[in-house]
Amino acid sequence: MTTPGLPERVRLVEVGPRDGLQNEATPVDVATRIGLIDRLTAAGLPAIEAGSFVSPKWVPQMADTNQVLAGIDRRDGVDYPVLVPNMRGLEAALEAGATEIAVFGAASESFSQKNINCTVAESLERFRPVANEAQRQGLRVRGYVSCVLGCPYEGAIEPAAVADVARELADMGCYEVSLGDTIGTGTPGQARQMVATVAADLPVTMLAAHFHDTYGQALANLYAVLQQGVAVIDRSIIGLGGCPYAAGASGNVATEDVLYLLNGLGIETGVDMDALLAAGHFIGAKLGREPSGRVARALTANRPT
Ligand code: HMG
Ligand code: MG
Repeated sequence: MTTPGLPERVRLVEVGPRDGLQNEATPVDVATRIGLIDRLTAAGLPAIEAGSFVSPKWVPQMADTNQVLAGIDRRDGVDYPVLVPNMRGLEAALEAGATEIAVFGAASESFSQKNINCTVAESLERFRPVANEAQRQGLRVRGYVSCVLGCPYEGAIEPAAVADVARELADMGCYEVSLGDTIGTGTPGQARQMVATVAADLPVTMLAAHFHDTYGQALANLYAVLQQGVAVIDRSIIGLGGCPYAAGASGNVATEDVLYLLNGLGIETGVDMDALLAAGHFIGAKLGREPSGRVARALTANRPT
């Protein structure tokens, strides 16, 4: 049974192997990254971010993403996007056989400087040829806007600044724009206003919600934007994640929590909760970490042994 006013189906984009593992103090080995992605594939996720082709000096945790792409068991119909900040990253992604890339910009000047060492305008200049060349080579391109509901350095961010960057990303051919609440400070009214501003220029079906859960608001924010028609949600297994250039940012909203919410609303995802819990158990055991989400904890605790 679907819920009136909400999408019938939501596409879940798993970002744990990238957003999650980029933030681990000790880089996670390639075999574990592959093991996690294969288990997430088995859970029925339609899109799994496999890593990044960024400078290993900036984010050593994402080194060897080429080996990860070479080792995973790719399933037909599943996308395995990788982050790419520049032409050099695109070349490496192409060599590694990536079929989808994501360029990542920000609505905050200070965050852009800290994260990719250039202004917002410079980043867009840099992304445009990358997006063009990627599309020429048959790759799909996704775009990210960070700090859509607040910046760790500047505080409040105007929705109009988010809409400007989102429009530029769409203009250069991004098929989807993922709106990142990088530090998880947003609340539902703000999320709704931000999405309404962006959706004044772009179809809401082009938008994805990428909400970190630092302040415990992510599920409420997601429910608010689902009501506006957003039907793509980024989340992270056992709530892993953060951004090395956003101090204090904790994990993305946990995949298990989002799936429980969507299942309860009768929204289809094609994702299997038991297989997801198994993937979470695998990476949690490797990292020595309990799930941050409530659903994984509750379902694991209540499971007959
Ligand atoms: P830079 O220092 O200005 O660049 O960094 P550069 O061109 O001067 O290069 C510096 C060094 O990096 C050189 O090496 C380059 O060759 C190398 P050296 O000569 O010193 O030996 N280099 C590269 N190596 C491998 N792959 C590349 C590459 N490019 C240059 N593609 C740069 C600029 C963009 C490279 C750097 O700032 C960078 O890599 N930043 C990545 C930061 C990052 O990955 N952050 C996390 C992802 S964003 C995020 O988490 C937010 C998100 O989840 C949404 C949300 O939550 O809001 C997406
Ligand atoms: Mg993120």
